[in-house]
Amino acid sequence: MILTKEQEAMLAGEEGPAAAKLLELLVALGEVFGAERLVAVESAHIAGVSYKNLGEAGTEWLEEQADLGAKARIWATLNPAGMDMEKWLEMGVPRGFAEGQRRVISTFQRMGVEPTCTCTPYLVGHVPKLGSQIAWAESSAVCYSNSVLGARTNRESGPTTLASAVTGLASLYGYRLEENRRPGAVVDVEVGLETPLEFSALGYLTGRRLGTTVPYFRGLGDLSLESKKALGAACATKGGITLWHGEGVTPEAGLYEGLLDGLERFTVGSSDIEAEVERLTAPLDDPIIVLGCPHSSLGELEMIAGLVRGRDMEGRLWVFTSRSVYAEAKASGYVGGIEEAGGRVVRDTCMVVAPVIEMGWREVATNSFKAAHYMTNAGLKTRLGTVQELLTGEAQ
Ligand code: F3S
Repeated sequence: MILTKEQEAMLAGEEGPAAAKLLELLVALGEVFGAERLVAVESAHIAGVSYKNLGEAGTEWLEEQADLGAKARIWATLNPAGMDMEKWLEMGVPRGFAEGQRRVISTFQRMGVEPTCTCTPYLVGHVPKLGSQIAWAESSAVCYSNSVLGARTNRESGPTTLASAVTGLASLYGYRLEENRRPGAVVDVEVGLETPLEFSALGYLTGRRLGTTVPYFRGLGDLSLESKKALGAACATKGGITLWHGEGVTPEAGLYEGLLDGLERFTVGSSDIEAEVERLTAPLDDPIIVLGCPHSSLGELEMIAGLVRGRDMEGRLWVFTSRSVYAEAKASGYVGGIEEAGGRVVRDTCMVVAPVIEMGWREVATNSFKAAHYMTNAGLKTRLGTVQELLTGEAQ
């Protein structure tokens, strides 16, 4: 790779040992992927935050970086942790886990990273511009920023996003380059999809069919922000889609309108959506309902609060969101409404990165294919349904 004088100096340790070591990681990665140079990035979103995934070894590695003087030089936010940083005891999180998680968050704070603890940074003000180079991890956030916002990132890891936060750089390859952002397949949606569950099903089946190929969707209709986040999260779950285009929906789709001939294509109808829902649905008697994968928006919390009014959800409903959206929802009375019905609203974490087996969960119902996929892999039984079906038993 060709480095500038400033980058060579950083690599030689002129900006401290942490920056040198982390830049070494980015250069090594760039060489593996054939990058010719590094590029400046505007912001980072760092994953690998839950103590469940990091364990002692990962936590010590982070502490070592902080001790070596690692400091974020660009705006950097954090993905969910393994627990609500305030209500962990209420969640039933073991004390030893909580101590480890607190060490992780305080280490990131020492490095100047904002403890947003959410997979929806774009809902809490971290909204990259069209065409900007960023370094984000967390597959659903990556898919949203690449596709809906038109920013440019690869599907980064915890260590590489920290490296980008500290150096302000990333290796220029993959989805950072125009030529790799072209669609490789056309998906004709021949059914009017309405709910985030249906868009989640579309994403899951598309990822299953296409692997990592960039899809170009036609016929998505006028979908909500919540449906866009559900679609991208599921696309990235089964397979590894990092970017999708939607005709009339995403900012770069228009560039490719005339370039779709000869691409692989398939159609999706209502029976495909129904069959997909069946894949991750087992007959369950009394599952815990888990909502907020990706983290709930204010609109979703408003809807949930409305649906549970007058119902008894005691011990049966967990809703996950960011601390920032939680604060808004609390001020608007939605958190109080859900809690009054016996539900819980939890910040900073989610059903996949919290130690839910240790918390006694065995059967869950959700509207998210991503949540159902990972919880099935973790050994839980799952059922899928729309928010309305899960909370009221009535079809939407
Ligand atoms: Fe977010 Fe957890 Fe789902 S990180 S996308 S809520 S698995």
